[in-house]
Amino acid sequence: MKETKKHARPDIYGNTVPWCTRSDVSPLRYPGGKRKLAPFIADVITRAKLDIELFVEPFAGGGAVSISLLEGGYVKSIALADADPLVAAFWRTVFSMKALRLADMIYDVDVTLDEWHRQKSLEPRTELQAAFKCFFLNRTSFSGALMPQTGPIGGRSQSGAYKIDCRFNREKLAERILELQKLSNRVAFVRNESYRKTLRNVRAMRVFRDTPETVLWYLDPPFFAKAERLYSYSFSEEQHDVLAQDVKSIPGHWILSYDDHPEAREKYGKHPGFARVNLQYSARIDAHERLVASEVIVSNIIARLRASGDLQDSGVVIQLPRRRQIPSAGIVRNPMFPRTQVG
Ligand SMILES: C[S@@+](CC[C@H](N)C(=O)[O-])C[C@H]1O[C@@H](n2cnc3c(N)ncnc32)[C@H](O)[C@@H]1O
Repeated sequence: MKETKKHARPDIYGNTVPWCTRSDVSPLRYPGGKRKLAPFIADVITRAKLDIELFVEPFAGGGAVSISLLEGGYVKSIALADADPLVAAFWRTVFSMKALRLADMIYDVDVTLDEWHRQKSLEPRTELQAAFKCFFLNRTSFSGALMPQTGPIGGRSQSGAYKIDCRFNREKLAERILELQKLSNRVAFVRNESYRKTLRNVRAMRVFRDTPETVLWYLDPPFFAKAERLYSYSFSEEQHDVLAQDVKSIPGHWILSYDDHPEAREKYGKHPGFARVNLQYSARIDAHERLVASEVIVSNIIARLRASGDLQDSGVVIQLPRRRQIPSAGIVRNPMFPRTQVG
């Protein structure tokens, strides 16, 4: 219960909201965003009694897991990287003094179809322009996708029930960016690079050379299915294979998440740190949907917790805490799927 009090903040109704349930952690609406996985990772960190100096997210996207853990006090600093230059420019700007200018631009912009077309065809000349392009298109396009073929919310005729500005609460979003900017001194770096370069770069950092046990990697690569429709930078079959090899040689702690796809189960199902996590909080959906909604997690920390008897057998669906439950309740066997064998 202590955790809840420590990380609680009042919500708009005056009630207490545990840190892990806030839906506006990231200003980006990221397709496949893993915000709901943060309490699970917090729980893993707590159970394994890890003292994490640096949490590295080389496939940063919306960055919600890193930010949640940083704000929740579970990790001391974070490092973000993404192959998409727009996404990287956004985070670099948020965690710099230019965040103030970005917030002003968000306050001032006219959220119209004309602006959407302007941003869509813009070739940014500065990092600030790239950051704004990323943010504007993310908040005004279908599913938040930045792909050239993705259209605006409400369609090009704006005849739908939802209009282009329906996800653009400028005051709240600009304020959130200013709030995040204050965390800048706890952001080790933001880079626009491929994850392999991030692996090399972090290995060369003093914190990693001296105390690798204080570094935790969180790898959330593009989906196996339909990623090319969601991200400007997705993975080929071969890249998924290369990553599976790369993961084997990461010294220190790591957690990998994937969409629950047969390929993911085939590649990682036999790893002793393999688990499936249910990202659905809602009690309204039926058992079949719950199973479909699960996420594959592989981690050498989970393997270690199992080996020491602190966590139970592999192959079960692990259910995440429901809204308003505490993070430390995260790893429990889902009673609906007592021993679902997978892989
Ligand atoms: C599944 S998303 C990450 C979502 C993120 N975890 C979140 O919660 O929002 C995968 C991300 O990987 C990025 N990406 C694709 N290929 C990459 C590569 N080779 N190296 C680094 N990032 C890459 C994509 O641009 C995308 O942002």
